[in-house]
Amino acid sequence: MNVHDSDTISQILINKGYKKTDSINDAHIILINTCTVRQKAEQKALTLIGRLASLKRKRPDIISGIIGCVAQEQGTNLFKRFPFIDLVLGPRNIYHIDDFLAQIKEGRGKASSIDLTWEPTLFTNDNGYLKGKVTSFLKIMEGCDNFCSYCIVPFVRGRETSLPAEDIINKSKYLISQGIQEITLIGQNVNSYNTKNKTMPTFPGLLKELDSIGGLKRLRFITSHPKDLSDELIGSFGELKSLCAHIHLPVQSGSDTILNLMNRRYTRDKYISLVERIKKVRPDITITSDLIVGFPGETEKDFEDSLQLIDTIAFDNLFSFKYSERPKTKALQLPGKLDEKEKQRRLSVLQERQRKITLSKNTLMEGTIQEVLVEGPGKKGNGQLTGRTSGNKVANFFAKKNFKGQLVRVKIIKGFQNSLLGELVDKYNQKVY
Ligand code: 5AD
Ligand code: SF4
Repeated sequence: MNVHDSDTISQILINKGYKKTDSINDAHIILINTCTVRQKAEQKALTLIGRLASLKRKRPDIISGIIGCVAQEQGTNLFKRFPFIDLVLGPRNIYHIDDFLAQIKEGRGKASSIDLTWEPTLFTNDNGYLKGKVTSFLKIMEGCDNFCSYCIVPFVRGRETSLPAEDIINKSKYLISQGIQEITLIGQNVNSYNTKNKTMPTFPGLLKELDSIGGLKRLRFITSHPKDLSDELIGSFGELKSLCAHIHLPVQSGSDTILNLMNRRYTRDKYISLVERIKKVRPDITITSDLIVGFPGETEKDFEDSLQLIDTIAFDNLFSFKYSERPKTKALQLPGKLDEKEKQRRLSVLQERQRKITLSKNTLMEGTIQEVLVEGPGKKGNGQLTGRTSGNKVANFFAKKNFKGQLVRVKIIKGFQNSLLGELVDKYNQKVY
């Protein structure tokens, strides 16, 4: 979501005639987009902002701003802590950033807004911003009404707001016209798209409309809440040609006691049965998840339940975190806080277990043929091309031609921890030299 927001800001500014620079020393405007989902992310952002002080002393003409969730949470207090900052803008206010910058440039002092009621907007005039890109995010909704007891997001991104389907479809057509081959729809809880305002289409309907546009090779979405995963949405995985074989479905814990304290509104069994149903519709689907260890009151048995669950599901990949106390959240009041050392121990045990699962899943893919959307040259700079499988795994392979933006057939010859190595094959599965 933050990557998308930073892109939106860049697009607005480029549309206004600004240019991007790779060097902070050449910049006239420096905006730091921030995350506050865990304390560590916030700390990192604040440290980076602190470092701007000396630059601003040398070049007082620079306009500097703090954008995003830390800005939302701390508001104009940030001006007191960092007096050299000119702009504080919450995540719902970025769409009007040019007005705020104009205000500062005209010498009308510092500017700020943290109004959570503003509507998100999609911009279509990218002025070359998308050049050379193969994949793109597309925001379809903003905010969250779920109030999981550990989570600050509802307080910093506001209530769930769905973007108009017409705008999403127009933006998709625009992205396709600019060479984008794969779109990932994003929102805090995409499967509750349009449910609150009782507007059509709901999320499965939106997927269907986008699938039928034509010209789009791949469609993905993140993130889904298990409690809102409808049969209709599960059915989409069997019906829609462009919908990729991957779902990110955060589970957060394998213990019913903890899930209840987290206010997640599903049980471990419900989660397992959802996964089984999805797999029935799309047997080759990859499943990834988020999991928190050391939530207040998490006993050794609760933690064991999480370990067991990751064995049962065998996630393709898992993003795991130590519970971090966040302002305003319900979990702050809960008894049974765990110390840092114990949280770290549980995280290490969990991550070690998941590493083995991920590796074995990737190894199991050896010998299979995967369709890969080529994104460009690989990181190693050794002539390899890189892309992703439908299941969202990184696959690298050698090729003489540049297949950027194309779907190619790749036979997997080796599965590693974080990627797959393959070779290009033709439609008869013969190696292409
Ligand atoms: N502590 C630790 N992890 C958190 N997440 C959200 N809030 C917290 C918190 N307070 C994790 C959840 C969520 C992911 C984006 O971040 O797992 O799915
Ligand atoms: Fe946070 Fe829960 Fe909303 Fe996800 S669903 S953003 S974890 S409150």
